[in-house]
Amino acid sequence: MDNIKQPSEENIFIHRNRIEQRLEEIGRQISADYGDKHLTVVGVLKGSFIFVADLLRQITTPLQVDFIGLSSYKGTESTNIVKITKELGVDIKGRDILIVEDIIDTGTTISFLIPYLKQRGPSSIKVCSFLTKPGAKKVDYPLDYFGFQISNEFVVGYGLDYNEQYRGLPHVYQLNNM
Ligand code: IMP
Ligand code: MG
Repeated sequence: MDNIKQPSEENIFIHRNRIEQRLEEIGRQISADYGDKHLTVVGVLKGSFIFVADLLRQITTPLQVDFIGLSSYKGTESTNIVKITKELGVDIKGRDILIVEDIIDTGTTISFLIPYLKQRGPSSIKVCSFLTKPGAKKVDYPLDYFGFQISNEFVVGYGLDYNEQYRGLPHVYQLNNM
């Protein structure tokens, strides 16, 4: 593991303060939309773990949380083949599901996941993604809530990785600009 680039403060793409502010807004919106229904949040591992942790603390709707592990990337390339690396641990039949993603890029992962969860008979499914890259869209997908729309650049930090590196960075960086 040599030659891992380290980010510098001047090259922050999305600052943690902006993220925090935006999460308050999305949290308010989700809380208003669901009211006192009971929500089941399904975080998509691994990339969403930090976003899930921060977002949930901005939602006042009663909720339970579980994670599903999906993987489609090698380096900076989407492979079009989605693998399940961890199954859901709860029964979602009749539940109101909020899928929480780190980033929607081509749409491959989310368009695999929605029908996959629908088979189990939830009463509703909505999607919330921290980031979205509309310019990379290859498959159509629904998106109910998002943090930031970004250009077609590979980004890391705040849960997002490049070959499993950089997930713990507190800000978001463009990989080519670190
Ligand atoms: P999609 O299936 O092409 O929409 O890609 C979704 C998944 O690819 C995300 O959940 C990420 O794990 C990964 N991904 C896509 N773009 C990026 C990026 O810019 N940085 C880090 N991971 C990314
Ligand atoms: Mg990834």
